[in-house]
Amino acid sequence: NTPLKIAIAGLGTVGAGTVGVIEKNSALLKARCGREIVITAVSARDRGRDRGVDVSPYAWYDDPCAMAQDADCDVVVELIGGSEGVARDLVTAALGSGKHVVSANKALLAHHGVELAKIAEEKGVSLNYEAAVAGGIPIVKTLREGLAGNALSRVYGILNGTCNYILSTMRETGRDYADVLAEAQSLGYAEADPAFDIEGVDAAHKIAILASVAFGGALNFPSVHVEGITNISALDIQFADELGFRIKLLGIAERHDDVIDQRVHPCLVRGGSPISTVEGVFNAVVADGDAVDTLMHEGRGAGAGPTSSAVVADIADIARGVSVPTFGVPAGVLRDYASQSIADR
Ligand code: NDP
Ligand code: HSE
Repeated sequence: NTPLKIAIAGLGTVGAGTVGVIEKNSALLKARCGREIVITAVSARDRGRDRGVDVSPYAWYDDPCAMAQDADCDVVVELIGGSEGVARDLVTAALGSGKHVVSANKALLAHHGVELAKIAEEKGVSLNYEAAVAGGIPIVKTLREGLAGNALSRVYGILNGTCNYILSTMRETGRDYADVLAEAQSLGYAEADPAFDIEGVDAAHKIAILASVAFGGALNFPSVHVEGITNISALDIQFADELGFRIKLLGIAERHDDVIDQRVHPCLVRGGSPISTVEGVFNAVVADGDAVDTLMHEGRGAGAGPTSSAVVADIADIARGVSVPTFGVPAGVLRDYASQSIADR
């Protein structure tokens, strides 16, 4: 079988992690996929930066859009970030030229997912984004493939590792908010602009994506009610504790007939409940299905290893020839649910 050739745009926390996983597990991936996965090209801003992995064997592109169009590859892996500009341009170019795309970019998916899914569908290629939601937890595959036989009524969970890390660490150590955020940034958990994490926007991107997959509706990010953790103080956490609760930032999507309610806000969860025990950078996603009942997946929601695990799983699907509509149903037939946020009630 011919090798699957991939080009990687972005060599930061997730990009360098992905190169590392593909190199380390290349024999295992070949055995599982029945063909080799080879990196042919890479792109980032600073060619001289030490990334902890050797990228010298691969063709280097200063311009990731040029790489998406010109590189000798079957798959373009977008690990740059941002809903506009270079990430959007290179994904559009790659899909348009008939290349598969794997991306960890939830902002891009939340804003432009439907339009990109339509291009992928027209060109007969995959747009895979498992790493965009809940890091290492394979929740997109679980909802889209694993629970395909269920009518789902609700999906919710801890979807931002940085916020959960901050809330857990403040509770356990009494440390200062800014100090813990700086630590989450140094561990590679936070977004390039950490306001996206702490103001709830990142979790909102993710719940909008999960709602689309769970309910087969067109992504509707603007209708998500968004509230972050910036108003939560150490005293709030302490009082909640004394009353037997934990404070968790939850993303929640519920279906009520033809309306989808989507929201992100801090919640009091009862101490001892499964979700209350999810601490640190861990995420958890709970789904209610009419056949399966309730299930919860838990795992690391951010960082190089867990996120690369999801990126490489998406690449492996393409290597195996697995093809599933981007949001579980063809982009042309995604439903237009009426949307409701807390503000609408
Ligand atoms: P980083 O900031 O660590 O890496 C971004 C990379 O993109 C860098 O290598 C940078 O180059 C490169 N880059 C930025 N702008 C350009 C440009 N104009 N041209 C070429 N290269 C460019 O980000 P992360 O790895 O943390 O995140 C990447 C994506 O993955 C984002 O969409 C993020 O939301 C998502 N994600 C991140 C997770 C995490 O835990 N970090 C988890 C899940 C998803 P250089 O290194 O030279 O500066
Ligand atoms: N900044 C994100 C988080 C990365 O902390 O959850 C994973 O999507």
